[in-house]
Amino acid sequence: MSEKTAQMKQEFLSKLENVADMASLDALRVEYLGKNGLITGLLKEMKNLSVEEKKTFGQEVNILKNEATDAITTKIEEMKKAEIEKEINSMPDIDITAPANLDRGSYHPITLVQRECEEIFRSMGFHIEDYSEIVTDYECFEALNIPKHHPARDMQDTYYLENGQLLKSHTSAAQNAIYKKYKDALINDGVPIKAIFPGRCFRNEATDANHENTFFQMEGVMVDKNISISNLIFFMKTMLSEVFKKDVKVRLRPGFFPFVEPGFELDINCLICGGEGCPSCKHSGWLELCPCGMIHPEVLRAGGIDPEEYTGFAFGLGLTRLVMMRYGVKDIRDLNSGSLKTLSQFTDDK
Ligand code: PHE
Repeated sequence: MSEKTAQMKQEFLSKLENVADMASLDALRVEYLGKNGLITGLLKEMKNLSVEEKKTFGQEVNILKNEATDAITTKIEEMKKAEIEKEINSMPDIDITAPANLDRGSYHPITLVQRECEEIFRSMGFHIEDYSEIVTDYECFEALNIPKHHPARDMQDTYYLENGQLLKSHTSAAQNAIYKKYKDALINDGVPIKAIFPGRCFRNEATDANHENTFFQMEGVMVDKNISISNLIFFMKTMLSEVFKKDVKVRLRPGFFPFVEPGFELDINCLICGGEGCPSCKHSGWLELCPCGMIHPEVLRAGGIDPEEYTGFAFGLGLTRLVMMRYGVKDIRDLNSGSLKTLSQFTDDK
């Protein structure tokens, strides 16, 4: 290699070594390899050389040009790598494989109590059924022995759709469908109908601490030969003592519902005031929790079951009310408030 090219190579390499950023690297590239660059300039000097000299010098310059180009490419890669490393090192020390430390949501107190009740009834052999919130007038009223213009409808004014369907005002609206679903097994194979069906209900209510336009009930029915009120009382007491983990005081009063005969109101001792009287129990010390009764013959008949042969009981547990008792919620409106601050405090971590 001629002294000139060797010197140029030396200079280039030492300058390259000191380059600190992309901009000066590019400037260096232009200085040596650009159209008017130093290496390109060497080729222009060739015109004064002999043919033989041109050949060796030309080769030398080309080798230098390639070496310089490769050195620049390598330098670019090194600089990019260094930049990435710098970025990685400046990142906070985190373990991206660790589980996210997010605030976990919690179940609504109604869901918790509903599941608990479902478990209790499941263990006693009941099916758990789901049913729609929009139902027909037939399902909600007619099939339950409440004809059009019956005064019992006044207590269950609800929200009507333009097509005549309505938001169910009680879970009893599913009774007819349940009887029809299980009647064949009852009649042909002697399998008793035992089902509970929790659900959201709607009523046109003036709201206060104890009334909401949207609330939850859990209906239960049992139909077989020789079912009596004693069966009803047994299942109610078992369920309530399981939910409250103690023997709860109950009382049975006569109550009127067109779809049961006889009909009752099952009250429990108000657990918020201990029976002394408070706004939640309308100062009576008792809380209506579970209207119930023996299924009316007309209702069984509408479900395809012969009331001469079979009897049954039905109850409509006020799930929302049960939650209020269980957790000491004084105002029913808190449960629909959507306030996480309020709702998350009732949560058992289940
Ligand atoms: N469906 C009735 C109501 O919401 C309650 C009820 C259910 C009464 C079953 C008797 C038997 O008012």
